[in-house]
Amino acid sequence: MQTSTRPLTAPFAARRAVRGTAIYGEPMHGTIPRELDPAGAQALLTALFEPGTDRLAHSRGVGRRAEQVARVLGSPDLLVSAAYLHDIGYAAAALDTGLHQLDGARYLARLGVPAELTGLVAHHTEATVEAAERGLDDALRREFPEPAPELLDLLTYCDMTTSARGEPVTVDERFERIYDRYPPDHLVSRSMHSAEPRLRRLVSGIERRLGLPFR
Ligand SMILES: [Fe+2]
Repeated sequence: MQTSTRPLTAPFAARRAVRGTAIYGEPMHGTIPRELDPAGAQALLTALFEPGTDRLAHSRGVGRRAEQVARVLGSPDLLVSAAYLHDIGYAAAALDTGLHQLDGARYLARLGVPAELTGLVAHHTEATVEAAERGLDDALRREFPEPAPELLDLLTYCDMTTSARGEPVTVDERFERIYDRYPPDHLVSRSMHSAEPRLRRLVSGIERRLGLPFR
């Protein structure tokens, strides 16, 4: 696996200074990892989500998926770290607006995480669609410019082919389970319906690159 073109380690001096202490009024459940390489990203994930929860299982599943993809396509570690952390906005310490992509990216930005990683978290899985529903699309774009599509699409692919429990699934199964989970008039259902054609095209394109079936 390649390393990212820019190191993820440099901007973390300030964060190290607050290791194991309260940060932004939220108690940290464990120490903040020294680096956000994939192992560090997993450590932060484990610190922020309760053990045994679907959010933790899903995030780990998406991270594992990204590790597979990165091996096949030679993607940088940045993809894998972003995959482990993509849903960190659901963690209690990060919750703010309710748009998990924005909350997660803001939380990581406050920790000093580089823009290459926060941009991926902010925009994964067609975030702008739900952001528009919530009136947050301007804030999302202003605070976190959309990253180049290469890694963003791979991250979205990993998310859209991993179940809520962290198992590999087809995109059909993923949509089916999302629509089962949320009522049709729910904001998440409406956003996913709106983004579905683009997401399906994205997944198909990446599956062709990876060689199907990729389970
Ligand atoms: Fe996700």
